[in-house]
Amino acid sequence: MENKVKRIGVLTSGGDAPGMNAAIRAVARTAAKLGIECVGIRRGWAGLIAGDITLLDSSSVSHIINRGGTMLYTARSDEFRTQAGQQKAAGTCKLLGLDGIVAIGGDGTFRGAQDLSKYGVAVVGIPGTIDNDIVCTDYTIGFDTAANTAVECIDRLRDTMQSHERCSVVEVMGRHAGYLALYVGMSVGATAVLVPEKEFNFEEDVAEKIRRSRLNGKTNFMIVVAEGAASAVDVGKQIEKELGLDPRVTILGHIQRGGCPTAKDRVMATRMGYEAVRVLAEGKTNRVICADDDVIRDVDIDEGLAMKKTLNAEEYAVMEAMSGL
Ligand code: F6P
Repeated sequence: MENKVKRIGVLTSGGDAPGMNAAIRAVARTAAKLGIECVGIRRGWAGLIAGDITLLDSSSVSHIINRGGTMLYTARSDEFRTQAGQQKAAGTCKLLGLDGIVAIGGDGTFRGAQDLSKYGVAVVGIPGTIDNDIVCTDYTIGFDTAANTAVECIDRLRDTMQSHERCSVVEVMGRHAGYLALYVGMSVGATAVLVPEKEFNFEEDVAEKIRRSRLNGKTNFMIVVAEGAASAVDVGKQIEKELGLDPRVTILGHIQRGGCPTAKDRVMATRMGYEAVRVLAEGKTNRVICADDDVIRDVDIDEGLAMKKTLNAEEYAVMEAMSGL
């Protein structure tokens, strides 16, 4: 591996995701192995503007592979969206002698990386978001943990819904995407799953599924709603009005973002962190690390963000076949 790169920075930005710490660890340790100095930048792009830094050697990332959240903190920075902010951030890179930046986060983070690269700073993005909505990669760090957390919560809800013969409406995160809701909905055997990618018709997609389920002998119903599809509170009200049930609504919210990362998230984060440093050490810039059929590779950020990601049609069809029963 050719290595002209002497010092790099790593930051986390946007919503945190379980496994970000494992990625930071992999970046710091791979850098150490290659003789590259690694600087942790706290509080995302805002921290790069402010020069909020901490040196990361191998031992400073010990015992974080199993921890949720991010040891570097995270933030969303309005200032970094301005040219003045980007210039200040590029100035910090120059001052500190950073040859490249590894930015861990979602598409907002990658847009920031694109902007910074225009000032001559080498950047590589690692996808970290529970939403799994980054177009160029099959997988984003944190998705598996968030899905398992949501499944565990819904399994608990199901126990009490079963005892009381009730209808439960659960809202899961995912921003504008339905990947998390679809995956979770299929895992819990939901009566119905609503995702933003498919416009829903209450009668067909909720009422009729509950009816069919009741006709099949069920007396408790689980409706999973992606936050981008509808408000669970509104869906609950409509169920009460149209079907005369007395549903209970649960918004899982930020609970889905915390907790120990699963083995899958630790492994993906470690593989992606390793690859990010390898790519920077090769002298590449403006890249995103992607999982493509479990192969880790890098793609151009501009091309990657321009691609269109759609729901897995087969997964959706299976969910449809299994729901309303
Ligand atoms: O992108 C991750 C995510 O958790 C989304 O699922 C959600 O819509 C959003 O972040 C919530 O953001 P915040 O932490 O600012 O409330």
